Amino acid sequence: MKGIVLAGGTATRLYPLTIVTNKHLLPIYDRPMIYYPIETLAGMGIREVMVVVGGKSVGDIVELLADGSAFGLELTYRYQSGALGIAHAIGLARDFVGDDAFCCVLGDNILRGRALADVAAEFEAGAFDAGTLLYQVPDPERFGVAEVDVHGRVVGFEEKPERPKSDLIPIGVYFLRPDAFEVIEGLAPSGRGELEITDVLNHYIPNGRLFTRIYDGHWTDAGTVPSLLRAAELAAADDAAGRLAPPTARPVG
Ligand code: DAU
Repeated sequence: MKGIVLAGGTATRLYPLTIVTNKHLLPIYDRPMIYYPIETLAGMGIREVMVVVGGKSVGDIVELLADGSAFGLELTYRYQSGALGIAHAIGLARDFVGDDAFCCVLGDNILRGRALADVAAEFEAGAFDAGTLLYQVPDPERFGVAEVDVHGRVVGFEEKPERPKSDLIPIGVYFLRPDAFEVIEGLAPSGRGELEITDVLNHYIPNGRLFTRIYDGHWTDAGTVPSLLRAAELAAADDAAGRLAPPTARPVG
């Protein structure tokens, strides 16, 4: 499997922290934010990763992560001009992905306490065409939200609904195959002018082609001031409890 980390976007929700720098360089406890999604992919056993960059200070991201060897990875980079959406950013990885299955992790998603090698292997070997992980949150209206039927099956996702149909959200971990690039090509921008990942996921729900699992580790995004603080607290608490030491080396200098 290949991996993609999305580190574009404008991060206006974190102003003034992100006026002159890239959100993904901000510290979360003891390391830059972007280390977390990189470590999530490394923990799946993925070795080839593309980082999609955009917005401020993209050169600093390249300087920080370099060729990825300090993480045991081979990194390549792609530039996204403008915050045109998560699905748009994934679309930029088409040539990099080639014929392989892949996992995309959002650059501001912090996952701790539960590695995902088994889930990635299950998706890669299985017959599902797309997949995501669900997590229960108290503020689902901030995210994509799952609608679930009486049998517990996901029947649709809505992006930032005013009236959420559940408190289960798809976190920013997406398992996909090259077929997704055709789906992305056929998308129209949403009301906020973005190609939405929830529209990609919705494509796979009819005919049971979407794989979903509840994420049973600890998760938060870090794209708002309160969630940035929560992310640091989550990482600190996990460290204190000695849970899941990050599988990667710390680059120096
Ligand atoms: O965190 C999970 C949520 O992430 C999902 O539940 C939502 O369905 C999904 O749309 C997304 O919602 P957000 O509004 O929080 O996404 P945000 O715009 O903050 O972007 C998340 C990351 O994706 C961010 O760290 C940078 C990257 N990104 C985003 C956009 C819009 C890009 O690389 N390019 C983009 O154009």
